[in-house]
Amino acid sequence: MNVLDSELLAEELELSGYERASSPRQADIILLNTCSVRQHAEDKVYSLLGRMKHQDARRPKKIIGVLGCMAQKDQMLIFRRAPWVDLVVGPGRLALLPGLLERAAAGEGPILEVSLDRNAAPLAAVSESFKCFLHRNTFAAFPRTQAMVRIMFGCDKCCSYCVVPQVRGPEQSRPAKEILEEVRRLADAGCLEVTLLGQTVNSYKDRSGPRTVVLADLLEMLHEIDGLRRIKFVTNHPRHMTKMLLEGVRDLPKVCPYLHVPAQSGSDAVLRRMKRGYTAGWYREMLARVREIIPQAVVTSDFIVGFCGESEEDFAQTVDLVRFARFKNSFIFKYSPRPGTAAEKLADDVPEAVKRRRNNQLLAVQNAISFEDNQAFVGRKVEILVEGSSKLGLKQAAAREKVQMVGRTTCDRIVVFDGEPQSAGRLLDVRILRADALTLFGRLEQDSPAS
Ligand code: 5AD
Ligand code: SF4
Repeated sequence: MNVLDSELLAEELELSGYERASSPRQADIILLNTCSVRQHAEDKVYSLLGRMKHQDARRPKKIIGVLGCMAQKDQMLIFRRAPWVDLVVGPGRLALLPGLLERAAAGEGPILEVSLDRNAAPLAAVSESFKCFLHRNTFAAFPRTQAMVRIMFGCDKCCSYCVVPQVRGPEQSRPAKEILEEVRRLADAGCLEVTLLGQTVNSYKDRSGPRTVVLADLLEMLHEIDGLRRIKFVTNHPRHMTKMLLEGVRDLPKVCPYLHVPAQSGSDAVLRRMKRGYTAGWYREMLARVREIIPQAVVTSDFIVGFCGESEEDFAQTVDLVRFARFKNSFIFKYSPRPGTAAEKLADDVPEAVKRRRNNQLLAVQNAISFEDNQAFVGRKVEILVEGSSKLGLKQAAAREKVQMVGRTTCDRIVVFDGEPQSAGRLLDVRILRADALTLFGRLEQDSPAS
């Protein structure tokens, strides 16, 4: 969601006449789009702000803005810790930024522009205050073959560890009509793949029209759009993995059978303290339903290790779940207490060294599974959407005609191969020659379809 916000903001500013600077030192304006989900992300921003103090002393006219979730969470605290910051703008107010920048340039700072706190006003007013988010309003000027499309914002779940409901506000779904229009215009400008975004994307519900539209309906509508080839959606909540949605994914060929459904833990006691609203057994049944309806489904997950009170036995149950589920990959995080969340009142009693060890252990189990499952691809032909040169490819570019390129399969597997830089944005067939846990290595098929 933050990557999309940054992308839309950069486009918006370029359209208003701003230019990208070649380095922070040369910039007249520096905007940091921040994340609050774990302490580490915030520490990095404060440390970067600390380093900017000296730049500010040399160029006092430089405008420094802190945007996004940390801006919403810390508000005035940011000005207190870094008085050289001119602007603090929450994620639900980003659309106001061009005007705010003008005010800051006119010397009006410091400017605080945030949404209402969740408990500070009636729900309708709070929801409204998060609605100044950025819209994609140019298609031809910034054509892209892959695009993220926000279909909802905010979150109404009460996972006890999570800061998102506070900083991104109440759950709100965008009208289906608006989304259809956006995707149609993207496809007309050459976009082949859209990824629909929402904190709990599968609880999407648009009640603005005569008939309620849920995610399965929206997928069906988007499927009709000419030119569009792939539709993905993230992130799913296990509780909303309905039969209707799964059947939609099965029956609509453009919808990728790739499902990110975070489990967070395999222990019932931990899941209860996390207030996730399901047990590990229930999650396993949900997975069985997924695999029954979509046998080729690829499922990925998130886990938090070292949550309050997590014992060795609890952790062993998480390892069991990872072994049982055979996720394509899992994102694993050490628990980080967040101010203002329910879990803040529980003791953060798993020592850092234990969190680290569990993180590594779980990652090793997951990687072994990913490695094994990826071997099944060796010798097979897969269709990939080419994303561009790999890091190695970028270095090779000057010296070679063919460079290392990277693309993704419909199930989000990363494939690298030697190809022409101009193939970026095309759908191509690649024969897989070898694989490790994270990457498939292939060779371009001669008869690849030109798209
Ligand atoms: N500490 C560690 N990880 C967290 N996540 C969310 N909140 C926290 C926290 N306080 C993880 C969850 C979520 C992912 C985006 O970040 O696994 O799915
Ligand atoms: Fe956070 Fe839970 Fe909402 Fe996900 S579902 S954003 S973990 S509160």
